[in-house]
Amino acid sequence: MKILIINGPNLNMLGIREPDIYGRKTYDDLVEMIKEHCYKVSVEADFKQSNHEGDIVDMIQQAYYDKVDGIVINPGAYTHTSVAILDALKATGIPTVEVHISKVDEREAFRQISYVSYYAKKTITGKGFDGYIEAVDFLVNG
Ligand code: DQA
Repeated sequence: MKILIINGPNLNMLGIREPDIYGRKTYDDLVEMIKEHCYKVSVEADFKQSNHEGDIVDMIQQAYYDKVDGIVINPGAYTHTSVAILDALKATGIPTVEVHISKVDEREAFRQISYVSYYAKKTITGKGFDGYIEAVDFLVNG
């Protein structure tokens, strides 16, 4: 099984950005943690991060041609604005889990809309980095 883990804007700043909300661990720590888990559950994992909406659309489209079996995506702020990312996911038909490190539902009103949620099979919020592990397991177990 092949899973693509996509992180959107500012998630490369983990460890630096608002540590009270996102913690002190870095993006590299996140990747290492997911890699270790994927190895244990025999999943092939690929990691991509971008600050650019169009790049994320391209990554999702490419996942279709690469025959990716599942996508874990934290679209960052594009969660709340991007119909283009939603449409790209719909176009591929790839099972997708949406992850948010923070408790978005308890934050500002503008964070209460998620376009990706219209497509994602599951949305995991407020579980920190563990949310990504739960997302991988959900895709593995179907
Ligand atoms: C986030 C929540 C978003 O509202 C925010 O813009 C992010 C990160 C999260 O992981 O909690 O960049 O997706």
